[in-house]
Amino acid sequence: MMYKAEEPRIVNVSSSGCSLTLHCDPAWKYYSHKAAVYPASKAALNMYTINLAYELKDTSFKVNAVCPGFVATDFNDHRGTGTVQEAGTRISKYAMIGEDGPTGKFISEEHNPETGECPW
Ligand SMILES: NC(=O)c1ccc[n+]([C@@H]2O[C@H](COP(=O)([O-])OP(=O)(O)OC[C@H]3O[C@@H](n4cnc5c(N)ncnc54)[C@H](OP(=O)(O)O)[C@@H]3O)[C@@H](O)[C@H]2O)c1
Repeated sequence: MMYKAEEPRIVNVSSSGCSLTLHCDPAWKYYSHKAAVYPASKAALNMYTINLAYELKDTSFKVNAVCPGFVATDFNDHRGTGTVQEAGTRISKYAMIGEDGPTGKFISEEHNPETGECPW
């Protein structure tokens, strides 16, 4: 179905808190926030994003993993510091990027407000 879209976009909702690179950096502020399952599931999603973007590289698809930020939701008993509206804006931005937009990237505007790019 998405093949029929003029500008097909796939946004996998990931988390900068599950970056493999950041989890190896003792200087990162969430270094001690380890868990067995959730970070591994997002790391798998990130790898899937890389592979899917590669698979679709010769098409008009854009495939990215995007972090909504630390958002106050049921997921964290509303301890998140961001709003659902901000998070929705961050995600929908990559669902609506133009032809010149990125593909195969991991984006966290919270982690990197300058370029948005987050280490895998
Ligand atoms: N909140 C954060 O700080 C944060 C940070 C980084 C990334 N994320 C990511 O953002 C996404 C949304 O998180 P959230 O904070 O909004 O979580 P949430 O408050 O726990 O909400 C999760 C939503 O997903 C639905 N859901 C769960 N399992 C489902 C299933 N099998 N089929 C259909 N719907 C299902 C739930 O529906 P019901 O209510 O009906 O169960 C609920 O509406 C997740 O991918 C999360 O990993 C969140």
